[in-house]
Amino acid sequence: MIRKLFRGAAIFLCGLLGLAVLLLAIAYGRLEWQKQQVYRVPVAPLQIPGDSAILARGAHLAAIKGCAECHGEDGGGKIMLDDPALGLLVGSNLTRGRGGLPAAYTTTDWVRALKHGLRQDGRPLLLMPSQETSQLSAEDMAALIAYYNALPAVDREQPPMAIGPVLRLLSLAGQVPLFPAQQIDHERPLLASVAVQVGPAYGEYLAISCSGCHGTSMKGMDAPAPGLPARPDISRSGKPGRWTQEQFIETLRTGQTPDGRQLKQEDMPWQMTARYTDEELQSLYLYLMSI
Ligand code: HEC
Ligand code: HEC
Repeated sequence: MIRKLFRGAAIFLCGLLGLAVLLLAIAYGRLEWQKQQVYRVPVAPLQIPGDSAILARGAHLAAIKGCAECHGEDGGGKIMLDDPALGLLVGSNLTRGRGGLPAAYTTTDWVRALKHGLRQDGRPLLLMPSQETSQLSAEDMAALIAYYNALPAVDREQPPMAIGPVLRLLSLAGQVPLFPAQQIDHERPLLASVAVQVGPAYGEYLAISCSGCHGTSMKGMDAPAPGLPARPDISRSGKPGRWTQEQFIETLRTGQTPDGRQLKQEDMPWQMTARYTDEELQSLYLYLMSI
């Protein structure tokens, strides 16, 4: 009797293991196939001005859009995460130093990456938030490119990215979008410019940077994986709806919420929101309280 029970359990466990191996094999194969897809999209030309006001705007955008968090403060790239389950995630070197962008990386290549989520040869970039940068105004995109083109060359070779098994499974389950190119409307032209002026309209433009985690509606999303926090509703119907504008700004500057919680930088990137100007945080608040 006992022996039969054990045999049953053993068969069940083997079946489970077999299923896990099969799922992993599918997740692995699918990702390798997706990586090799070549997207043929028309890339619109963009003028890159080089005056100092534009460079300053580009530097500010690199800070508030999180480019520096993934590509390093010096633009020389960095290891974003080194974890056996999730993988070795690497923000590339965006300077012209050793290990950086190739000498023949043109403005068109920049736009292909920022607007379309594609590398020079048309294959999709992984984990680069191009679904957000594709919504930058032409003016802001040009400022970012001008800024990175003017950065001193950093010689830093980065190891190649390696997507781990858990991330592959999450991608298969549709929980984590790995390829921004799949989410982008490649036909939509860039917005020419956006009025930099305190108000909900500017806030809506800025909130694109929050949409990847808090959802395009800003009404929150489930946790991306077990063990991680859910992404809360940050609109009027969420907790921020009960905060004053000062409390909202204080939270995004320090990570300290009015109810006394310290948000962790690795969950909610408040060190990035800390770098927004007062006008930008006011605009974000006005927009979030309007929806
Ligand atoms: C969440 C992390 C993250 C953020 C934020 C981010 N990037 Fe990236 N970016 C990546 C990763 C990872 C890659 C490499 C993708 C690959 O090789 O598949 C990449 C690739 C790129 C590339 C393409 C380089 C090449 O070799 O083709 C450019 C250009 C780029 N990023 C610019 C930017 C700019 C400008 C910003 C800010 C607006 C930014 N990135 C924000 C993670 C990020
Ligand atoms: C990388 C994902 C990510 C991005 C990008 C992000 N957030 Fe968050 N945010 C979170 C997570 C996760 C939490 C919850 C953390 C926790 O519960 O400890 C959070 C919490 C918050 C809170 C506190 C809400 C509460 O109920 O206490 C506010 C306010 C907030 N985010 C605003 C923003 C704004 C504004 C932006 C865009 C400028 C933004 N976040 C971008 C992930 C993100």
